[in-house]
Amino acid sequence: MDNREENRHKPHCLVLPFPIQGHINPMLQFSKRLSHKGIRITLAATKHLFKTTQQFSGSISVETISDGFDEGKADVDLDPYLARFEQVGTETLSELLDKLRDSGRPVDCVIYDPFLPWAVVVAKKHGLVGAAFFTQSSSVNSIYYNVYKGQLKVPLLDKEIAVAGLPLLEISDVPSFVRDQDSHPGSFELVLNQFRNVEEADFVFVNSFYELEEEVTDLMAKILPVKTIGPTTPSMYLDKRLTEDKDYDLSIFKPVNSCMKWLEERTNKSVIYVSFGSMAKLEGEQMEELALGLKMTNKYFLWVVRSSEESKLPKSFVQETQEKGLIVSWCPQLEVLAHDAIGCFITHCGWNSTLEALSLGVPMVAVPWWSDQSTNAKLVMDVWKMGIRARPDVKDIVGREEIVRCIKHVMEGEEGNEVRKNAKKWRELARKAVDEGGSSDRNIQEFLSTLESIAP
Ligand code: UDX
Repeated sequence: MDNREENRHKPHCLVLPFPIQGHINPMLQFSKRLSHKGIRITLAATKHLFKTTQQFSGSISVETISDGFDEGKADVDLDPYLARFEQVGTETLSELLDKLRDSGRPVDCVIYDPFLPWAVVVAKKHGLVGAAFFTQSSSVNSIYYNVYKGQLKVPLLDKEIAVAGLPLLEISDVPSFVRDQDSHPGSFELVLNQFRNVEEADFVFVNSFYELEEEVTDLMAKILPVKTIGPTTPSMYLDKRLTEDKDYDLSIFKPVNSCMKWLEERTNKSVIYVSFGSMAKLEGEQMEELALGLKMTNKYFLWVVRSSEESKLPKSFVQETQEKGLIVSWCPQLEVLAHDAIGCFITHCGWNSTLEALSLGVPMVAVPWWSDQSTNAKLVMDVWKMGIRARPDVKDIVGREEIVRCIKHVMEGEEGNEVRKNAKKWRELARKAVDEGGSSDRNIQEFLSTLESIAP
């Protein structure tokens, strides 16, 4: 490298995620991708997140801001939490940008989670590029945007819901915060508020890829500067020849890595992986039906049951199934999904889990819980045809027989052939999207060119 090259200012992005696992992971992985492309990254974590998560290795620096709850927010409701975060966060983000400038590491761009829509205002006050990073699918963003703009009226009165670019939706396919906003008033405001100030953003990134959601992405791109940049799944999992930082870091939960050794001992596509992400709290009865369904299949299973959910497991289930099953409180999910032993993923269809399964070619059994998950489940089954959505009973519980039926559907026999074929197709398309010259890679390059053109 000659001196001129060395002295050139490396564009510097400050990345601000909302401090929950499902939002930290994709923004962190995106940061790593940018860092590999020569961008300097500073991640802004809340003080509490910084104190309570596994610490960082690799190329990304972490600095802290405050959400006003440095010792943890305990059971503070969402509304007062967001209000305080906005007030204290605006101030401390601004101070951090000043500090980085004064210490010779000026920031060029703030990439922010639109759950924190005030961040772009701070970025603009500092004369910086602002980029919103939407952690959910283009389809779900479009539903929220239509509600935000009053084009989709709530409460939903029709039996079928039409949103441009999407298949007709039944009420049960619509994100729970929209279909039942009275039960989640804070969350309803939160998802609509993502569009507050968005017109100030120079880029609107979506963790998806163009080939997955073409029509709806094109429609959204007519309104906002939308760029699909995903999947953020690290390249080494998409293409086993590649190596790069694979760990999630900033992990709120500690993974039980020994499950990988257990998987090593299983044959190809023989194991059912079960996980409901970082937030879902299943009904006791649902846990029991799931457990009994798994037992009835007599197949191997690896089940993530967070410590807070453990007491809902049926008594003596662990002991009775120890020949076949392994239960862990958290696992290295990407490594698990990328393992040849996994044949099926029973998932709540959180967007990260859905996209990770799509891009690693693992057929899904969808058991959505709340938020965007029912929409993701609808698309997995009817559009991407990469899995099946389990049918709940009248009490909204997916029974044991239904669990068995769905597992058989994707893992065995003729009817699962299409799902398994599509699993390969989506894995290939996801890999191509982020490979050099692919749709997501081109969008990232365009962003990098903009940063390079403005960097001093
Ligand atoms: C939340 C919402 O619930 C989800 O609907 C929304 O789309 C994103 O925010 P969460 O419920 O945690 O996320 O689910 P998901 O989006 O699937 O994210 C979970 C993340 O944790 C994934 O990246 C997954 O790989 C990781 N994970 C999960 C682990 O690393 N280990 C585990 O054992 C389980």
